[in-house]
Amino acid sequence: MKKELIKQAMGVLDANFQKEGFTIPSQGLYPFQWKWDSGFIAIGLCYYNIEKAKLEVKTLLDAQWENGFIPHIVFHNENDSYFPGADFHKSELHPLSSKEYKSTGMTQPPVMGFVLQEMHRIATDKEDMVEFIKKHIDKVYQNHAYFYSNRDPHDEGLVYIYHNWESGTDNSPVWDDIWKTMNPPEYIFERKDTTHVDASQRPSKREYDHYLHIIEIAKEHQYDDEKIAALSPFLVQDPLFNAMLIKSNESLLELYDLIGGNEEKKIQLRQWQQKSIKGVNTKLFDEELGAFVHYDLRNDRPIRFVSSSSFSPLFAGIPDVKRAETLVQTMVDKFGGKDKYLCASFDPTSDRFNPKKYWRGPVWINMNWMLYYGLKKYRFLELANRIKKDSVELIKRDGFYEYFDCRKNNGEANRIGYGGSNFSWSAALLIDLLND
Ligand code: GLC
Repeated sequence: MKKELIKQAMGVLDANFQKEGFTIPSQGLYPFQWKWDSGFIAIGLCYYNIEKAKLEVKTLLDAQWENGFIPHIVFHNENDSYFPGADFHKSELHPLSSKEYKSTGMTQPPVMGFVLQEMHRIATDKEDMVEFIKKHIDKVYQNHAYFYSNRDPHDEGLVYIYHNWESGTDNSPVWDDIWKTMNPPEYIFERKDTTHVDASQRPSKREYDHYLHIIEIAKEHQYDDEKIAALSPFLVQDPLFNAMLIKSNESLLELYDLIGGNEEKKIQLRQWQQKSIKGVNTKLFDEELGAFVHYDLRNDRPIRFVSSSSFSPLFAGIPDVKRAETLVQTMVDKFGGKDKYLCASFDPTSDRFNPKKYWRGPVWINMNWMLYYGLKKYRFLELANRIKKDSVELIKRDGFYEYFDCRKNNGEANRIGYGGSNFSWSAALLIDLLND
């Protein structure tokens, strides 16, 4: 059974591989290269095709801008099955954007540091992987330098995101109160996502107006970071995004130890690391909720909701043991009922929870993967194993979907998988989980 599942997962990844040297997240729905998807995909590829895994990472890093920025989508080809595409984003507006690749002018969680370390862990030819890491690690370091120099205006060790798509958790209810502070125009455009996936599983038209409006403002200012920090109606310190950065900082430090030299970079990484861990623990922890929360920097207020992002600091070793116990208690109490698969993307006890709608409730395999390793790190082995078992079962029941209903009995026979089918990171991370 395990062998069969791994074979199917490899089939999904291979079918989604493109001749330009990257893997699309899902046919039709997502026809380009996405930043954090590529990281997770490379981890899965390492188990059976190391050359493809290296190519996946290289192709993404090739699209890095001169200021260290790595975009959230790289438009390697023309494809009109996706909106908003290259012509809308116009990355060429930024003076330091890639001259070779069209992309968006926003980013996604910085996973590449820990991805390189995972690749080294999994690779059987360590020497070859060390050579690869030597060639590419500085690009990842420069990406972190970009974040700390441009996205931490109050020097708190916490970087902001200026768009909900930067979080990776696109339509989370966490953003709802920010939308209430905005009143964007009613844009006229043709949605493409709802031609691939039922509209009930995707964001609303009005939500899209907000998403486009933030981009229009950034474009008016040529994606200038200072202008965005001053003017974007969306400016958030996200516990998931910052946890990814911290986890990747730690990986870069360990990888620089491995390859030797680079003393100045290591000193800098340690400084960033200390400040960031402190920042997340002091500013983003909500004692009353017993969880990490987002902070709305534009409106200067915490966003007091529990989501799967609230637990992601476990993956980066950010909380102390006592706080980790609190987090686990919150997860069990709110998300862990026996009638549910772990881990819903949004608090199932909240009236904003929606079990079928994208990031408003469904289970996502990449979040489960992070939580599995995070819980293991703190020795919550029973819960870690439950998350792993649930992830495997969800995929076994319905296939390699983008997201899954967390309710074991949702009244729809076996239909629990939603969004894109044959979704690459669900396949890639399942390969890793089954090998652990
Ligand atoms: C959706 C997800 C995002 C992912 C992208 C491509 O937009 O919300 O996290 O990177 O799809 O799979």
